[in-house]
Amino acid sequence: MIVFDSAARLWLLTTPSSSYALRLDENDAPRHVHWGARLTLEQALGISEEYHGDHDPGGEELAVEGGLRFAAPSLTVRYGDGTRGVEWRYLGHTIDGEELRIDLADRSRELRITLHYRVFGDCDVIERRATVRAGEPVEILRFDSAAWTLPHLRDYRVSHVTGEWGREFQLRRIDVPVGETVFTSRLGITGHHANPWLMVDAGQATEEHGDVWSAALAWSGSWRITLRRDPLGRASWTGGFGHEGLTWRLGPDEELATPVFAGLYASDGFGGTSRAWHSYIASHVLPAPDAVRPVIFNSWEATEFDISQDQQMELAELAARLGTELFVMDDAWFGARTSDAAGLGDWWPNPDRFPEGLGPLITKVRGLGMKFGLWVEPEAVNPDSDLYRAHPDWVLHQPGRSRTTSRNQLVLNMARPDVAEWTHAWLDRLLAEHDIAFLKWDMNRPFSEAGWPGHPDPERLWIDYVRNVHAILDRLRADHPDLLIEGCAGGGGRADLGMLRHVEQLWTSDNTDAAERVAIQYGFGQIYPARAMGAWVTDSPNTVTARCTPLRYRFHVAMSGALGIGGDLRRWTEDEMVWAKGLVEQYKRIRPIVHGGAQYRLSPPEAGTTAVQYVSADASETVVFLFQPSSLPRGKAPIRLTALDPAARYRDEATGAIHHGAVLLSHGLPPLLTFDTTSELVHLRRLA
Ligand code: DGJ
Repeated sequence: MIVFDSAARLWLLTTPSSSYALRLDENDAPRHVHWGARLTLEQALGISEEYHGDHDPGGEELAVEGGLRFAAPSLTVRYGDGTRGVEWRYLGHTIDGEELRIDLADRSRELRITLHYRVFGDCDVIERRATVRAGEPVEILRFDSAAWTLPHLRDYRVSHVTGEWGREFQLRRIDVPVGETVFTSRLGITGHHANPWLMVDAGQATEEHGDVWSAALAWSGSWRITLRRDPLGRASWTGGFGHEGLTWRLGPDEELATPVFAGLYASDGFGGTSRAWHSYIASHVLPAPDAVRPVIFNSWEATEFDISQDQQMELAELAARLGTELFVMDDAWFGARTSDAAGLGDWWPNPDRFPEGLGPLITKVRGLGMKFGLWVEPEAVNPDSDLYRAHPDWVLHQPGRSRTTSRNQLVLNMARPDVAEWTHAWLDRLLAEHDIAFLKWDMNRPFSEAGWPGHPDPERLWIDYVRNVHAILDRLRADHPDLLIEGCAGGGGRADLGMLRHVEQLWTSDNTDAAERVAIQYGFGQIYPARAMGAWVTDSPNTVTARCTPLRYRFHVAMSGALGIGGDLRRWTEDEMVWAKGLVEQYKRIRPIVHGGAQYRLSPPEAGTTAVQYVSADASETVVFLFQPSSLPRGKAPIRLTALDPAARYRDEATGAIHHGAVLLSHGLPPLLTFDTTSELVHLRRLA
C-alpha cells in the first residue's frame, strides 16, 4: 500500500480507490505529486517527470518559510538568534505496514521534522500529522499538521459549515476566491461558528457524482485551516491546531506533535464523501463504535435549574414508560447550583435537593430498568463557588487583567497538571462510588484572558489544555470500561474528530426545534455519523423557537440520529405518551440500520422536502425519513430511493405494502401531503 521509488525519490500511497504521491525535489523539499484516482507507480512516476516544476511555489507537503515562498506557511520557526524558516535536508524514511514516516531536518540548524502518513485497507482516508524536535532552543510560531494540494481544476468550490449557538452546522457551498480564505476558531474550543473540515470540488460535483477532496482535523481547541487559491489556478490548504500569534518554546530534545489532519479523495460526490467519513469514523476513530447508543431521557429542557429528587424520580417513571434505556440528570444537581450564577466546580450533590446523595435517585432509575447518567462541566467554575474561593489561581487569567465571565463562569486551566489531576480525581471518584453509566461532558464558554501566570511558556496552554481534556476522558474510559460519554459545548460547540476519539456521541445543538434541526443535522452529517449525533424529542411549542410541531415529526427527526427524549413528560398527554412509546419501539427496530448502515441524502433541506435514506450493511433493510417543515409551494416531487436491488421486492414494515425495487429506484415514494411539518418514516425489508 506504500511504495518508494528511490531513483525518483517518490512515495506512492494506495488506498482501496485512491492514490496519493509525493516526492523530494532537488532541494529535498517534500512536494505533492498526486491526490486522486488510483495510479500505478509507473503512472505516478510519469506525473513527476512531466507535470511538476520544482519552482511551483505551492505543492509542498508542509509549507515552510524561506526562499521564494510567500503563501501561508504550515510551519514557522524562529531560532534564538532570530533566524527563521527551514531549508530541508532529507534524512530517511520508514515504511511500517500502513504507515510512512519521512524524516527531515533543517540543513544548518538543530531541527528535525517528521511527516507521518497512514493509510487503511478499508477506506480512502489518509491520516497525516507531523512532529518536530529541536536540538537547540527554538520558538514554534505555527505548526500545522499537513498541507494538502489539489490538482489543477477548472474552478474551485468549497463546502463548509458555519453557524452560531442554536444554529450550528449550516452547510455553505461557495466559490473559492483567489487569495487565502481562513476557516478558524480562536475560542479555545472547536466553535459553533465553524467546524474543522472542508470539502473542495471543481464546482460540478453533486450529491452522488463528481470528484471531491476533503479533510477533517482531529482537534478540539483553537484551529485554523487556510485555503489558498493562487492566481495561476492552483489550490491547496494547510491546517492544524494552535492559536493565532502564539509561541511554543521547544526545549532541546523536546518534541511537539500535531493532531491528525485526515484527508479523503472520493469520486462519488458529496454523499460518497460523507459515507466514507462515516465509515472511517466508525472503523478508526470512535472508541466503542458498536456500543448500542441507548435511548436517553435528559432532564434539561424539562426542568432546567429547578430540580429536586422527587421531580427527577417522577420524570424517570414517565421516561421508563416510554422505553427509555438511560436516564440523564442534567445541570443543577450539585453544590449551590440553583441557577447558572453559582456552584459550578462544587461537585457534590446539593444537600437541599439530594439530602441522601444521588443514591436514592440512582436506585430508583435502576429499579425502573434504566441506566443512570449525569451532566458535568469539568472545565469551568462559577466565581461564586467554594472551588474558586479556594483556588482563584486555577482559572485562565492574566495578572492585572479582568477575568471576563461568560454565562457567569470562568475557565479552569486544564493545562495545569494539578488542575487536570484534581479534575480526573473527582470524576473518577464520582464514577467509582455511584452506578453511573453515562456522562454528558459540557463546556459552556470560550477562553478569555488565557494566561498561565508563573509558567515559563504560558502560551502552550492552548494545546496542553486540550490534550489534558482528551487524556482525562481516556483515563475515565480505561478505568470504567462500560462508561458512555457524550461530548457537548453549549450545544454543538465542540464536535470534531478529536472528541470522537474519546466519546460515543456529541450533543448536536441546543436548538431542539425539529423543523430547524433538519438543516443542523444535515450539516452535522456531512462528516459525522448518525450514531454520534445526539438528537432529542422535546416539547411543543419549542423552548428555543416557540414553534409548534407534531410529536411524530419531532420523533422522526430525532430518530435519524441517536434518539433522546428531552421534553417535560409531566405535561405530555396520555395520548402523546402512547404515541411516543410506539415510536420508541419503532426506533429500536430501525436503530441498527440508522447507526450501522450507509447514509444517503436523497434531498437537501432547501429542496423543501429533506429525505435521508439508511441502508443496512447487508442491504436487506432500508429506512427512509422524509421531513417537510413547511407546505406550499415546494415539496411535491416524489423522492426516488437509491442503493436498492432493482430486481427485488420490498415490504413496508408498517403497512405491509409490497414495492418493487425498480419502481422505488425510478419513481420513488409518493410525495408527502402538503401540510406544514409533515414527516414520514418508511422501513422497507427485502423479500427473500
Ligand atoms: C448546555 C447544553 O448544551 C445543554 O444541553 C444543557 O446541558 C446546559 N448546558 C446545562 O447548563
